[in-house]
Amino acid sequence: MAITAYNGIAIPSFMYGTAWKKEATASLVQLAVTSGFTAIDTANQLIHYQEALVGEALLALANQGFKRESLFLQTKFTSVDGQDHRTPYDAKADLTTQVNQSFQSSLAHLHTDYLDSYVLHGSYSRRGLGQADWEVWAAIESLYDSGKTKMIGISNVSAEQLSSLCAKARQKPMVVQNRCYAAFGWDKEVREICKTQNIIYQGFSLLTANREVFVDPAVRAIAAKYGTGLAQIVFRFAMQIGMLPLTGTTNPQHMKDDLAADQFTLSPDELHAIETIGL
Ligand SMILES: NC(=O)c1ccc[n+]([C@@H]2O[C@H](COP(=O)([O-])OP(=O)(O)OC[C@H]3O[C@@H](n4cnc5c(N)ncnc54)[C@H](OP(=O)(O)O)[C@@H]3O)[C@@H](O)[C@H]2O)c1
Repeated sequence: MAITAYNGIAIPSFMYGTAWKKEATASLVQLAVTSGFTAIDTANQLIHYQEALVGEALLALANQGFKRESLFLQTKFTSVDGQDHRTPYDAKADLTTQVNQSFQSSLAHLHTDYLDSYVLHGSYSRRGLGQADWEVWAAIESLYDSGKTKMIGISNVSAEQLSSLCAKARQKPMVVQNRCYAAFGWDKEVREICKTQNIIYQGFSLLTANREVFVDPAVRAIAAKYGTGLAQIVFRFAMQIGMLPLTGTTNPQHMKDDLAADQFTLSPDELHAIETIGL
């Protein structure tokens, strides 16, 4: 299954995330793809991701016959604030140069000459968008213009920032990637803007940020009804309300279970019960 962005590019409806996998990154990415995931999320940020090991997995997969075009690759530009001393660019260079150097380094790590999606990992400003954010976004827009990335996006964005970006950017994002808390209506405000603006909302930490959902009797009853695990209920709920979920599982059985989350359909009442769980 795929979701089509407002620019006509299709993105698989479930994404495998590669954060915190350390030296296991290459083997887990290979396992994820051979299990059926076709979209991979990473970042050029050594504190949390091993982008070069994602690339190592892609080389091994290519040797097994997987074509580059069959995979959707998404990575991110991370500002100096989110890096340690191992910045994948000259941290003293101007911001446009930093974005371009980081992008080139990502292409090299991933052994490709284009990306499917390039995401700004987070804004510089805590509230609103400042001059640095606009400069970085303009550099990302230029990469999109050049055709080297098929989509662009922003992560860890507030409703206020996203509204501003949509109103003032030359090219608004095709994707948003946010941590999704049930306690805030599953990031309702940002999801509403995405819906109105026809932007694809990618949700992460759906399981880890929402422990209360797993002890909720209503959710447990829904899982019992469908004979599934609780994780599958959360991922299916996410898909049915229009979200593109990420999973970062390291477990082969959980990969299969997560991918099977589209094998059943929750009723409107069940969706409403889960959507309003933390409100
Ligand atoms: N943009 C950002 O700033 C940002 C921040 C954080 C994450 N992300 C992206 O989002 C991806 C996913 O992150 P995440 O926080 O959602 O995931 P995560 O931290 O990797 O957590 C997934 C957790 O859920 C468990 N799990 C998954 N499927 C399960 C199942 N079927 N049954 C039971 N447990 C299951 C996993 O355990 P097992 O390993 O045992 O299955 C793991 O503990 C990251 O890898 C990264 O790509 C982006």
